[in-house]
Amino acid sequence: MVRELVYNPYLWETQHNPYPIYARLRDEAPVYHNPDLGFYALSRYADVLAAHKDPVTFVSSHGVTLEGGESGQDLLITKDPPLHDWHRKVVSRVFTPRRVNGLEPFMRETCARLLDPFVGEPGFDAVEQFSIQLPLAVIGELLGIPESLRQEIHHLADRLFTRDDTGGIPADAAAAQIEMGMLLYGIVTDRRAHLGDDVISLLITSDVTDDDGRTWKLTDEELTTRVLELAFAGHETVARLVANGVVALAWYPAQRAELVADRSRLPDAVEEMLRWDAPSHYQGRWTSTDVTLHDTIIPADTRVILVTGAANHDERVYDEPAHFDLHRRIDTTVSFGYGVHFCLGASLARLETRIAFDELLDRFPEYGIDESGIERMRSSNVRGLSKLPITVA
Ligand code: HEM
Repeated sequence: MVRELVYNPYLWETQHNPYPIYARLRDEAPVYHNPDLGFYALSRYADVLAAHKDPVTFVSSHGVTLEGGESGQDLLITKDPPLHDWHRKVVSRVFTPRRVNGLEPFMRETCARLLDPFVGEPGFDAVEQFSIQLPLAVIGELLGIPESLRQEIHHLADRLFTRDDTGGIPADAAAAQIEMGMLLYGIVTDRRAHLGDDVISLLITSDVTDDDGRTWKLTDEELTTRVLELAFAGHETVARLVANGVVALAWYPAQRAELVADRSRLPDAVEEMLRWDAPSHYQGRWTSTDVTLHDTIIPADTRVILVTGAANHDERVYDEPAHFDLHRRIDTTVSFGYGVHFCLGASLARLETRIAFDELLDRFPEYGIDESGIERMRSSNVRGLSKLPITVA
């Protein structure tokens, strides 16, 4: 008996393994409609890419998750052009190649600090003790967040991302959002009084210029939001990508051995990790007008989600998509989005992930994973693990 096709990204069963449903979406309902949750979903690579390239029809200002809770917030990701363009210009100053590449020694030192204590030990949790800690330290260093506050930011972020089965925001998640805002506001106001060589100081002193040529400086509230979005975007996603990659290489030991022997393959491995199990599984949009696609009309003013995780496994683009293959040629990716909202931290994320595996494989080339101890985090659109015990002895 063929099961009715129901795609509900909040369901635990779907979060656990969404790929069988994604295959059915691509084949049976490329413009899928869920009337109960009130959304449409695009799952084929070509359709997801085309929607990213058309931010006038598929707008972000109504939120980028299914529940759209962030709609109306002053976030870069939820601004539409032209407002988006000037704000993006300010934030993109942060990610110069010199600044990003200059972090490499710090990344390597951090990996050594995190991994060396486990040499000779039976094992450790690759999420809590490594994949979360590295990007947390890196984004903290980049932004200029005091070391003593970084763990608190991580714990607040964990609470803040939690959603229930229907996408509802639990009271604790709402409380965490307020606590996070207050913590970061405190850092910003303190930094204004003691400027340094960090990104918060750079944002404090930067000018914003709009289309009419008016120039001003960001307020403390605006600065707090810029720091909040960078702190979140910068640590959660990389943490999940590294952990998903640790699983991939444990499941494909021959490819891991190839990487151990030849580190020049690491950039290709990172691209394949991004495709194989992307940390950001969908991007939410809202239609500004009626859209006709595959003989279906998506009405104006409707939530549409662009299912990155499904696009990345589209057989129309990738042979044997479920198979991890570091020899695969990947010319474009939607794992970092595409077009006007393309991830500003992509080069930082790629560098961090490459170094994480370079350092991990130096010390533990044949690690194993304890599948019984794996735990998956529960989130609206971030896909990743919260516990990943690995054995290294
Ligand atoms: C593996 C790691 C990462 C993944 C998979 C990822 C994914 C994404 C995706 C899919 C988008 C587009 C969202 C949309 O179109 O609605 C995005 C945007 C963004 N990302 Fe990342 N990201 C990662 C790491 C980072 C890092 C390290 C930073 C910063 C330190 C960052 C900062 C941003 C910002 C600021 C935007 C908003 C850009 C805009 O709206 O113009 N990301 N990211």
